[in-house]
Formats: sequence, structure tokens, C-alpha cells
Amino acid sequence: PATVPFHGARQAGIATPAQDRLCFASFDVAATTDRAALAALLRTWTAAAEAMTRGAGVPGHPGDLQSPPDDTGEAAGLTPGRLTITVGYGPSLFDDRFGLKGRRPSALKPLPYLPREDLDATASDGDLCVQACSDDPQVAFHAVRNLRRLAFGVLNPRWMELGFGRTSSTSPSQATPRNLMGFKDGTRNIDTTDAALMDQHVWIGAEEPQRWIRGGSYLVSRKIRMLLEAWDRDSLGDQQQVFGRDKSSGAPLTGRAERDTPDFTAKADGTYVIAADAHIRLAAHENNKGLRILRRGYSYTDGIDPVTGDLLGGLFFIAYMKDPGQFVTLQRVLGQHDKLNEYIEHVSGGLFATPPGLAAGQDWASQLF
Ligand code: HEM
Repeated sequence: PATVPFHGARQAGIATPAQDRLCFASFDVAATTDRAALAALLRTWTAAAEAMTRGAGVPGHPGDLQSPPDDTGEAAGLTPGRLTITVGYGPSLFDDRFGLKGRRPSALKPLPYLPREDLDATASDGDLCVQACSDDPQVAFHAVRNLRRLAFGVLNPRWMELGFGRTSSTSPSQATPRNLMGFKDGTRNIDTTDAALMDQHVWIGAEEPQRWIRGGSYLVSRKIRMLLEAWDRDSLGDQQQVFGRDKSSGAPLTGRAERDTPDFTAKADGTYVIAADAHIRLAAHENNKGLRILRRGYSYTDGIDPVTGDLLGGLFFIAYMKDPGQFVTLQRVLGQHDKLNEYIEHVSGGLFATPPGLAAGQDWASQLF
């Protein structure tokens, strides 16, 4: 079907099989905005997001010639392409400004400094975020543009990213896509149709004292640049050692088919077949006390570096988890030891708590406040 239901126990856009395109934006609440104005905007956003998700325009006063159109119009006549609009709240929202101190989800604290990173603060974090995903890039852009327009004077845009080409399959019904390094990505991702795994690793549960956020999740984003010129000069054998997988089939170097379970103990000539610093060895749940995250990222490009002529592009990493500590644990290991580090650079990042879904008649304001 072309539409994904807006209402439900969970926000759409997390367990939803990943769409092809992404438009992601982060906002800060304007200095002049008070609690009532923020609440009013969140009610307006709820109605607009619900309408756009089913393929309708932003609601208002159609045909009023004296006012700007309610909807900017560029998605008229397009199918929604399974549009989902997912909102999240950053740590900075839960302060004195809006009386939200007592509502802060317990694990929503700025992430610690992680190995090797030098993140661009102006392109990181934010009070609120919107993740719009659709199979049609114009529909995803339209959703963010219209939410931004409705927020004029209430929120200030902080940063925005466009993603093309989902880099993770999140459901067994999807073929595994490839990232910009040419490798299949998402092979051993969490299968979002597995409710037990989702409860164990992704959805915030009864362990969280803030009841309102239970059933939600934490979103960690990372803009990760790939040093593609260096990568493209690396040998095939070394590229495969970086991940521990066969580039063509996606199979682990210890197996034959893509979905074969990697054997991290296998050795040849006294060394590990899947290298000690291979990405999948360091990231695998078997080697991290069972820890898993749901990856839901996209490829991005910012064109060409005007000084060097190098391609600017890589992975806009998005992952969902029940506690941001899951990302921290993994990235501490990867940031120090991953063979992939020679070819990537973390550029910016974000952390947001994504609330549970809304029932019909409910809105984001009454849920938050
Ligand atoms: C696995 C690519 C960054 C976590 C993989 C795989 C590829 C890949 C090709 C193997 C296929 C699969 O199971 O999905 C990349 C690239 C990255 C990147 C190109 C950066 C540009 C990260 C980061 C994290 C992460 C930042 C988390 C902090 C994982 C996990 C797996 C994985 C958990 C599954 C490992 C397993 O269980 O076998 N990645 N990844 N990756 N990656 Fe990454």
C-alpha cells in the first residue's frame, strides 16, 4: 500500500520497512517561544503530519485567496510513497524554559565524547527533530518543508539532511541494499517484524520511570563521511577485510551465502579469517554481550569539495535503541579499533528521544506536556 497509518501504539518510521528516501531536519525552539506557543505548534504539527501521511495537503482554509496557500503544493498528485513522519526531542528541550525538567526521559543526556570524533556543533543536536521517509524524495522534502513553514517564528531550523538509497534492510521482505562503499548493508540488522527482539533492544519499556516515553525509542544520528577516493583505490581483498564480508555476495568471509552466520573463531594460517579489526567482528552482538541496535540509515552526498575536488558523501547513520548507551558502547569499540576508520570520518551527530505513537484524537503536545 502507498500509505502507512499515522496513528498506532508506535510512531511510524522506526519499525516501518525502510523507504527509499529521507529528509531529516533538526530545530531549536526560538527564544521568544513560550510553553503555550510550543504546545500550539505541536498540535498543528500533529494535524499536518496526519494529513500528509495519508496523502492530503496541510489542512487549513482551502481556496482562501487572501492568504498564502495552506500547503506549498509540490506533493499534490504524488502518491505518499509510504510517507512516515517521526518526531524526536533532544536533551536540550527538557529544561526550565517549558517546565519540562520533570518529564526528561532518564537516558536522554548529551552523549559523551567518543573516540576520534570532532563533530561540527552547528550541524549536530537540536531541541526537536523530524525524520520524514518516503519512496518519493519530493514527498519527503515536502513534509519537512511544510512543518518548517508552520513553525515560522516558533522554531528555528538548525540543520537538515537529505538521504537517498536506504542503507539498511529492516524487514526480511526487503532485499539488502548497498552502501556507497558497494557493500550490502543491513544483513544482520534487527528484523523489525520480530517483536521480542524489538522489545529487547529497541522499544523503551517498563524499566523507564517516565511512563509517557515508554513504547518510544532513542534515535542516534551520525553523519559519517566516507573518504571515497581513498576507498576506491583500495584493493578488493583489503576492502573485504575491512568489513569481514565478500563484496559481491555479502557473505561473511567464513561462509558462502549472505545470511550465513559469521564464524569469528575460524583461522587460516594462524590468523583470523574475519580479521581482529573487521567491522562486523567488532560490531556483532556475539562479541558485545548480546547488544544490538536497529540501523535505519541512508546514503547522502553534499557534492564536491570545492578545494580538493573530492566527493563529499557517505552514510547518514540513523539507529534506534532503547538506551543511547547501546550506541556509546559500540562506538567506543568501533571508534578505537575498526579497520573502517581509515576510510570514514564522523562529521556531526544527534540524539533524540522519539515518543510512542499517538492514538486517534491524541496530539504531540498533550503527550509531551
Ligand atoms: C554491520 C557498514 C558504521 C554498527 C555492517 C555491515 C556493513 C556496515 C557493510 C555488514 C552487513 C550488515 O550486517 O549490516 C557500515 C558503514 C559505516 C558503518 C559503511 C560507516 C560509514 C556503523 C556504526 C555502527 C555500526 C557507526 C554503530 C555504532 C553495525 C552493526 C552491524 C554492522 C551493529 C552488525 C554486525 C553483525 O552483527 O554482524 N556495517 N557501518 N556501523 N554495523 Fe556498520
